[in-house]
Amino acid sequence: MLVSAKEMLDKAVAGHYAVGQFNINNLEWTKSILLTAEELKAPVILGVSEGAGKYMTGFKTVAAMVKAMDESLGITVPVALHLDHGTYEGSYKCIEAGFSSIMFDGSHYPIEENVEKTKELVKVCHEKGISIEAEVGGIGGEEDGVVSQGECADPKECKAIADLGVDMLAAGIGNIHGKYPEGWPGLRFDVLESIKAEIGDMPLVLHGGTGIPEDMIKKAISLGVAKINVNTECQLVFADATRKYVEAGKDLEGKGYDPRKLLAPGAQAIRDIVAEKIKLFGSDGKA
Ligand code: G3H
Ligand code: ZN
Repeated sequence: MLVSAKEMLDKAVAGHYAVGQFNINNLEWTKSILLTAEELKAPVILGVSEGAGKYMTGFKTVAAMVKAMDESLGITVPVALHLDHGTYEGSYKCIEAGFSSIMFDGSHYPIEENVEKTKELVKVCHEKGISIEAEVGGIGGEEDGVVSQGECADPKECKAIADLGVDMLAAGIGNIHGKYPEGWPGLRFDVLESIKAEIGDMPLVLHGGTGIPEDMIKKAISLGVAKINVNTECQLVFADATRKYVEAGKDLEGKGYDPRKLLAPGAQAIRDIVAEKIKLFGSDGKA
């Protein structure tokens, strides 16, 4: 059964660990992440960008697949199905499709409009038991067409959005989607501390989880980050494992071209990296 992300994130804040959000693209991604979370007894969030939703032929298909797989695999850990960087329209589509959590990314609107739209969506989501994430500031780089310069969040604006009753807050603190460039100065812990001072126990979300050094991840968690989003890293390890399989000519041996064999090394690579992240975030054994 899919659950809202609220309870698992409130527990993460209290327990000083973070729940991983891993983005899905297809059946292999979903199965790998669910099996790993179950094996490690970790609560988990499956993220779906608007682009990935479209690729999987729509949010209804995604919700049906995830619900059926959660059941057929006998998953017992809490799983939230979460819209990632949703538009206003996309948020409504996911609410209708049966998602258990959404992110309304109104960060590109003027603050007044972000407040107005977030307020409306908080009401709709909470009436249905769905959790909602909002964003203040920007996450640098590009993810599935969502582009931002990566301006740091203003702590007072964070407070204004947190006060609307959202369940978790994403704040730009120098984090970037995709690979971090050479010479990246690191996360702005000073900004994170000022935000935390404004919003208290509201779970903070760290986007752009790919490639952030371990010590920074741990420090961010100690300062109130309770959800960490990872997308690109799963794609990189999947591509690398598949390339190695093909370059070694394994697809030409026996029935190595069978998609169930061809995609297996990539699926295993996703399992390995998700397990590594869950342990780093400290959410193993917390389900
Ligand atoms: O919203 C999803 C993420 O912020 C993932 O970022 O692709 O850099 O890991 P990433
Ligand atoms: Zn993101």
